[in-house]
Amino acid sequence: MKFDVKTGDICAWECDAVVVNLFEGVEKPGGATGAINSALGGAIVELIKNGEIKGELHEVHIVHSLGKIPARIVAVAGLGKKENFNADKIRTVMGDTVRTLKKHNCRRIATIIHGAGIGGIEPGPAAQAIVEGCLLGSYTFNKHVTKKEEEHDIEKIILLERDKAGLGMIKSGVNRGVIYAEAAIMTRDMVNEPANHMTPTHMAEIAEKIAEECGLESTIFNRKEMEKAGMGALLGVAQGTSQPPKFIVLSYRGNNAGKDTIGFVGKGLTFDSGGLSLKGQEFMSDMKGDMSGGAAVIAAIGAIARLKLKVNVTAVIPATENLPGGRALKPGDVLRTMNGKTIEVVNTDAEGRLILSDALSYAVKNGLSPIIDMATLTGACHVALGDLYAGVFTNDQSLVDRLIKAGAEEGENLWQLPMPEEYEEQNKSEIADIKNSGGRYGGAITGALFLKQFIADTPWVHMDIAGPFMSEKASGVLVKGATGFGVRTLISFAEKYAGKGG
Ligand code: BES
Ligand code: MN
Ligand code: ZN
Repeated sequence: MKFDVKTGDICAWECDAVVVNLFEGVEKPGGATGAINSALGGAIVELIKNGEIKGELHEVHIVHSLGKIPARIVAVAGLGKKENFNADKIRTVMGDTVRTLKKHNCRRIATIIHGAGIGGIEPGPAAQAIVEGCLLGSYTFNKHVTKKEEEHDIEKIILLERDKAGLGMIKSGVNRGVIYAEAAIMTRDMVNEPANHMTPTHMAEIAEKIAEECGLESTIFNRKEMEKAGMGALLGVAQGTSQPPKFIVLSYRGNNAGKDTIGFVGKGLTFDSGGLSLKGQEFMSDMKGDMSGGAAVIAAIGAIARLKLKVNVTAVIPATENLPGGRALKPGDVLRTMNGKTIEVVNTDAEGRLILSDALSYAVKNGLSPIIDMATLTGACHVALGDLYAGVFTNDQSLVDRLIKAGAEEGENLWQLPMPEEYEEQNKSEIADIKNSGGRYGGAITGALFLKQFIADTPWVHMDIAGPFMSEKASGVLVKGATGFGVRTLISFAEKYAGKGG
């Protein structure tokens, strides 16, 4: 799918489909929608009168032009209620629209810049949102299907603007949209990839490829180097599998004058069977995606480099499988982490916090600050917040506020949960410094409190993405399967961080 920005009249544009829009409750549309309505002899107003077009969000109404304009189809996309409108609604609208137009065999599409008129959104962010919506909403993962159904992909999307004034801003919005969306797509591809393909070794290869393409520095620790560094918790989890574990470090320096290097830490568990504390079948099926956090931070640092942001970032990804076996970790085992703390493993299925304890220790030891970790850490967080919210936890309120804002702008919902000291009790062990499960109640919180033990005083946010890493259905920018959740939040956060002087 390619994008182009042009000036011209939507009523005269030659293509398969033109996209116009309607706010809910509007009976006599103006602007481009009004002009198209006139060209079609009043068809749109008639459909509104009959209650067929309502302008609701997720509604895409197809009107056939029957030769009245050059485009074969007019798609009238609902923008929803005007008071709820924001840039993220544009993404949703375009995600729904491209899926509909694909079914109607459209390859060349022209759209107006939704939101830039009465919607009150700046043309740059509006164009960025259009591009993200189109790319994410039409995403498919079919590389392993040998007999592909004949599908017509959308070849070109033209963003049409009436006058030349905003063209520069629109073009840069399109560029940014492509970089943001491609990063999320790369994450989706990695997460959707079955675990027999997406091994820790393969994750490391992808990280190295990104490093080469985007000019990042990369270091991959093998088992021996992990031993030398004292990463006993990561090595403990990796004992049960014959796949070699990898500890992946990628660095981008875009601000040599800046003193901070942001640390992104992502859980790279390429398959989580639970280990000897084996999961039931129902809970194991999505666990090829337990490396979503790791995939997200790899893609995010690549995008940050492509955008040439004036900021320093290091991404740290502990990658391994969690399998049962003759050498596997046993409940009751005690492990020693890189920062010297000891952990009693009471449940081998709470492996995420084990591998992250070494990754966070590494990040702290290397002076990364602030640190943001992203992990599919607890089923409890999914239960608490559902599919559309990640839980966030912090020791620095202003940092989490900035992250939540960056997420909201990208349509990625983050909801802060508390970290009461009283619950630390639940992680206490009788035979080691800490144990790896705090029991059933407040599971997402005790998971976060466990991680807090390894970040010292560094400003830190933990994102538990166990809810939103996968989607059950297609809606807006989401399709069934991996969502790429969190990648765009991290890029946007870094962009704002760079704006503040890095
Ligand atoms: N990867 C899982 C958490 C998970 C569950 C992510 C569902 C996405 C969807 C994690 O390693 C895990 O198994 N956590 C345990 C922790 C418990 C044993 C303390 C859980 O949530 O049950
Ligand atoms: Mn687990
Ligand atoms: Zn896990």
